[in-house]
Amino acid sequence: MARVRLARDLLHIHDGNTQFGSFARALSTLSVDERHYWVGVFYTLLLSAEVRRDQAAYFTPPYLANAVLDLAVEYGFDLKEGSVLDPAAGGAAFLSTIAARMTAVGAKPDQVASRLHGVDIDPGLARISCGLIADRLGLGGVSTIDMQVCDALRRHWKPEFDLVVANPPYGRVTPAVLAGDHWKKVAHSGNINKYAVFVELCLRAAKPGALVALVIPSSFRTGPLYTKLRGYLLEQAQVLCVGDVGPRDEVFADVAQDVSVLLLRKTSAAKRADTRFCMIDATAGVTDIGAYPLPRDQEEPWPCPTLNAMPRGGATLADYGVSAKAGYFVWNREGDRLRKVEEADAYPLIWAKNVKPGQLCRPAGKDGKAADFVTFEEMSPSIVRQPAAVLQRTTNNKQPRRLVAAVVDPAVYARWGGFVTENHTIVLMGDSAADVAQVCQLLNTAAADARYRALSGTAAVSVQLLRTLDLPKPECLAAATKIHADPENAALAAYEASALLHAGRHVA
Ligand SMILES: C[S@@+](CC[C@H](N)C(=O)[O-])C[C@H]1O[C@@H](n2cnc3c(N)ncnc32)[C@H](O)[C@@H]1O
Repeated sequence: MARVRLARDLLHIHDGNTQFGSFARALSTLSVDERHYWVGVFYTLLLSAEVRRDQAAYFTPPYLANAVLDLAVEYGFDLKEGSVLDPAAGGAAFLSTIAARMTAVGAKPDQVASRLHGVDIDPGLARISCGLIADRLGLGGVSTIDMQVCDALRRHWKPEFDLVVANPPYGRVTPAVLAGDHWKKVAHSGNINKYAVFVELCLRAAKPGALVALVIPSSFRTGPLYTKLRGYLLEQAQVLCVGDVGPRDEVFADVAQDVSVLLLRKTSAAKRADTRFCMIDATAGVTDIGAYPLPRDQEEPWPCPTLNAMPRGGATLADYGVSAKAGYFVWNREGDRLRKVEEADAYPLIWAKNVKPGQLCRPAGKDGKAADFVTFEEMSPSIVRQPAAVLQRTTNNKQPRRLVAAVVDPAVYARWGGFVTENHTIVLMGDSAADVAQVCQLLNTAAADARYRALSGTAAVSVQLLRTLDLPKPECLAAATKIHADPENAALAAYEASALLHAGRHVA
């Protein structure tokens, strides 16, 4: 518990007992919200990176916790009487902040403490949370709040809270670590994400008519793996508000993640009302975008207002005669087929890092020099022999673009007859080299990238989403390219022209 003591010492600089004097003094100049946030972050930085990742111990920054609680209060949470549960409460971002709001409307500290309930799997974080809430309520080192150390996914939940608020952990889990089969309501076996299971338990723990406020990865909004979760939300709740939180690399310390805020009212007889969409960021707070209906069909992605605001092209990759498929070679599963030198029946391997926009893509090994090769016992459709471009399948927060593509150098076919790519890539193939080059240039534009980002909430590029990505009509792009030498301007003009063409056809 040395970590807990060090973190809690940061709150008591005046006792002169801290080992981090200057850090604690700097913290003492911050607002309570900020100070509490940094005490939690400090504790998690003392954990190993692995534990931090496993528990998703990334805390909600104060501006976001406040925006979420503003929404809950706006939609009727009663600060004078209401009870609150946070089932992933480490760091107390929500519980400490709401404690302050409860006392601000006149509730007595003891009464406030009795209405706050938390769970965290990490005993240190649970103790720190109690300390932070006690500090906020002026209860000395003692807090009577109900903070349990346990695995929320294995606990029994009754519908007893007026507000359930959480920034739950995320990451894949297997049914073995979950209690019962509640997960089946929100996830497909083989693709169970902790955050989806937390959404289900939050709804279970809320009273009928109560609010559930969540900060969760954005993938549930459009991702094909989250159809069950979308269906469950529509069935069990009224979706009051969906917020885009951004930018992705500025939300949590130490991790880049696209996140959404979701505000629900638990009700099985969900009233069909439009859902409010907004943007939330550290400087502007909550900015409304508009209200839109959610599709009834769980297979359909939820509307994305930023996408609706952009001119619609109305074409897809298929209209350009280009198809997309995931990279074939998984080197850490089939390392025995990887060669450092050329052999008969071996084809050069294109790694994701060989994809550099604006340059022809050529196979090169980890040192950036000689190519690696993959052996084949027989001819395989995985060997790409036709005109192709390669797109990176995962991006990191340092990359300004989600879509990063490059055309494969014709010299590769001339020398080796074909190539293979690794699984962190997507291959775009067509019969015509000119079509492939045109698509590649288009995908590298900000206009296409913005449309992809609006569809996808995750850093990984999905083949399925790429196939449905809205592109300008090929004839409009061809015409715009003749007028605008700059691909960015050509793409913008082509989207505009396609939208006009589409509108014209409708009018006619
Ligand atoms: C993303 S952090 C959010 C923490 C904090 N409540 C906030 O909003 O900033 C997730 C928290 O869930 C906790 N956690 C992870 N797995 C858990 C589980 N199975 N049951 C309960 N808590 C869990 C972690 O220790 C961590 O404190």
